[in-house]
Amino acid sequence: MMLELQPRTDFAIELPTSMLNGKLMTPKLQSVKREGTVKVVTLFFLSLLLLLIAFGTCLGGLSSLQLARTSFPPPEVNSFVPVSHTHEDTEEEKKSISNEEILRDYIIQLKSEEWYWGGTSLHHNMSDEELFWKASSVAGEPLNCVSKVAFMFLTKGPLPLAPLWEAYFKGNEDYYSIYVHTVPGYTLDVPSWSVFHGRQIPSQAVQWGDISMVDAERRLLGNAILDSSNERFILLSETCIPLHSFSTFYDYVIQSQHSFVGVMDELGPYGRGRYTIKMKPEISLDQWRKAPQWFEVTRYLALYIVTDETYYPKFRNFCKPPCYSDEHYIPTFLSIYFGSQLANRSLTATDWSRGGPHPTMYRNNDITTNLLNRLRNNSNCFYNGNPGHTCYFFARKFSRDTLEPLQQLHHQALN
Ligand SMILES: *[C@@H]1O[C@H](CO)[C@@H](O)[C@H](O)[C@H]1NC(C)=O
Ligand SMILES: *[C@@H]1O[C@H](CO)[C@@H](O)[C@H](O)[C@H]1NC(C)=O
Ligand SMILES: *[C@@H]1O[C@H](CO)[C@@H](O)[C@H](O)[C@H]1NC(C)=O
Repeated sequence: MMLELQPRTDFAIELPTSMLNGKLMTPKLQSVKREGTVKVVTLFFLSLLLLLIAFGTCLGGLSSLQLARTSFPPPEVNSFVPVSHTHEDTEEEKKSISNEEILRDYIIQLKSEEWYWGGTSLHHNMSDEELFWKASSVAGEPLNCVSKVAFMFLTKGPLPLAPLWEAYFKGNEDYYSIYVHTVPGYTLDVPSWSVFHGRQIPSQAVQWGDISMVDAERRLLGNAILDSSNERFILLSETCIPLHSFSTFYDYVIQSQHSFVGVMDELGPYGRGRYTIKMKPEISLDQWRKAPQWFEVTRYLALYIVTDETYYPKFRNFCKPPCYSDEHYIPTFLSIYFGSQLANRSLTATDWSRGGPHPTMYRNNDITTNLLNRLRNNSNCFYNGNPGHTCYFFARKFSRDTLEPLQQLHHQALN
């Protein structure tokens, strides 16, 4: 018999709590007198044990945990038989010990899962639904060692500016993970030493302006969430370049109190004009928001995005060109519930000054020190409540022929 899992919106429940609330402990404990005390004692032991295991794991590396793979969820725990004790244990101690062992088994099984450690392989054939369910089940996992930033590249195919990114990531291996969504069937042509090697996720076709763009974003988030050390999630494209060194960005984003999502309430046909009454009752006109799709979110918000079953269908059904879901879904959904967690700006600079539906594409001749300095340090914004000039950490759109001048002019800034 398998342990019955909660619906996936319950991901916020953390491991020890869910085990106490769920079916794992209660049947035996209920028969014990002084039930309340037992639960408190049990909770205490569980917390202690969890801390010890977390500590031991971080210190001791993973080798001891390379046990046989088992499937999630954990086995039915009612079948557990407490070990016999030769000396005189109190009833309470027996229960605590057996519960500790249950928890230990559970954690060992959890850790032996490939996806728990992230990155072993991104090859899976889960549907989006399965992926999001799995992502929600790893969500409450509290045992992180080092926080990583997930760089999620939404691309058509090749990564012409890859050499810039290779330089950017070099030496920071413990602090990032990379996910690449391409057109289906495309295989990135990168050498085995590349940071992009083996980082393609199972992808599906994406049409510009279509809900499939949002699907790809959620698919990237879903895959990235499976690595429980990913704390922050940033969406980028193949035309993006970094503006500051990796470590500058890492410190900035890890220490930020906000997620970087643009949130505009734009009047006129390209903003509120895209709203339809069919969005009601979930979304009213004054809740409608717009932003460039290039977001950065915390793990907490990422989980809400992949498990949302209320707002997503609204956009899938009612936001069709000239309404573009990728510009409205995340800003609208997040600002309704999590407005105070948003910085209300993007970390990716985009130049719209030349007009039209697409931003400026920089070409070879555009690349000057002046341009790069302007992008790097010529804006005003707030960071954790303090005003500053460093607002953008990435910029787009850069054509493939900018690689050479960028490598020459930009090298210093990235190291
Ligand atoms: C996924 O892969 C497994 C083994 O690789 C296979 O047994 C299963 O049928 C596949 N599922 C789908 C939906 O393709
Ligand atoms: C962003 O806007 C929301 C209101 O939508 C506000 O609550 C929040 O404080 C703003 N964020 C910052 C960093 O000012
Ligand atoms: C950014 O620009 C401001 C003035 O615009 C200047 O005072 C500051 O030193 C610059 N910072 C860097 C890192 O270049």
